[in-house]
Amino acid sequence: MVEVTPFKRQLLKWVGSKARVAHRIIAHFPDGFATYHEPFLGSGAVLAALRPERACASDLFAPLIEIFTALSRDPEVVKVWYGERLAHFQSGPALERYADIRARYNAAPNGADFLFLSRACYGGVVRFRRKDGAMSTPLGAHPLMPLARFSDRVDLWAVRIRSTTFATCDYREAMARAAPGDLVYCDPPYATSQSILYGAQAFQLPELFGAIAECKARGVRVALSIDGAKKSGRRDCAPEVPAGLFERAVTLDLGGSMLRRFQMEGGQMDGEEVSDRLMLSW
Ligand SMILES: C[S@@+](CC[C@H](N)C(=O)[O-])C[C@H]1O[C@@H](n2cnc3c(N)ncnc32)[C@H](O)[C@@H]1O
Repeated sequence: MVEVTPFKRQLLKWVGSKARVAHRIIAHFPDGFATYHEPFLGSGAVLAALRPERACASDLFAPLIEIFTALSRDPEVVKVWYGERLAHFQSGPALERYADIRARYNAAPNGADFLFLSRACYGGVVRFRRKDGAMSTPLGAHPLMPLARFSDRVDLWAVRIRSTTFATCDYREAMARAAPGDLVYCDPPYATSQSILYGAQAFQLPELFGAIAECKARGVRVALSIDGAKKSGRRDCAPEVPAGLFERAVTLDLGGSMLRRFQMEGGQMDGEEVSDRLMLSW
């Protein structure tokens, strides 16, 4: 049982962020492990709450990793990125200024613009158009965080990730690097509902189960978050998990995720329960 104080201050907004439940996930991690691996890093909520002594974190989405790499090398760079874009945004009509930054990002995806867009876009739900992969979310209605507050947040995060190395890579490559005694935490895309998110990357849950089995066979412990009982009317979208791969499962009540709320906007929320399962290989 690992106890950490909840740390819910997000650096980035990202669909499926575990910011609200990271400490509850971590409570099920083993007391001791060598290196911590997080191959579906997203906004890094679990990594930041855990604050591991040695870690490797990765994601297939390069702009995210560009932000974390900058944060680990020189946090001041991340503050400047945000500050410059905030100043541009505030220098004229909000919709136009936001569109400028989004157009520049879409012309050449990069961490600096992505950081701003993730904080400024509607509901913090970054979406990509299916036909050309362009980031399409409109400007949100919320006020943007002032630079001084954002800078404080950057400093808090920099301390938490200072023992982590970051890489842009597929989870299979990242998991193949885990050694006996290490711990891997996987939070893959929701198999049933996230195809328009994360740049429409192809993701197959059965292949992840294969990578987990290989880790387990060589003495690497794996924890997996998986969308559990997601009941919409009579439809239950819980995916099948191979028998014998995990030793235990814990159900975490998420109380309605951001993604769910977004998708159900204008639709009926009745009968919609969201819970996450945490599967443990040990
Ligand atoms: C549910 S999100 C992770 C959210 C994260 N736990 C957080 O708190 O923000 C899933 C992540 O998997 C990444 N991803 C999708 N396919 C991948 C792949 N094949 N290899 C590595 N990462 C992948 C996406 O870019 C996305 O950031």
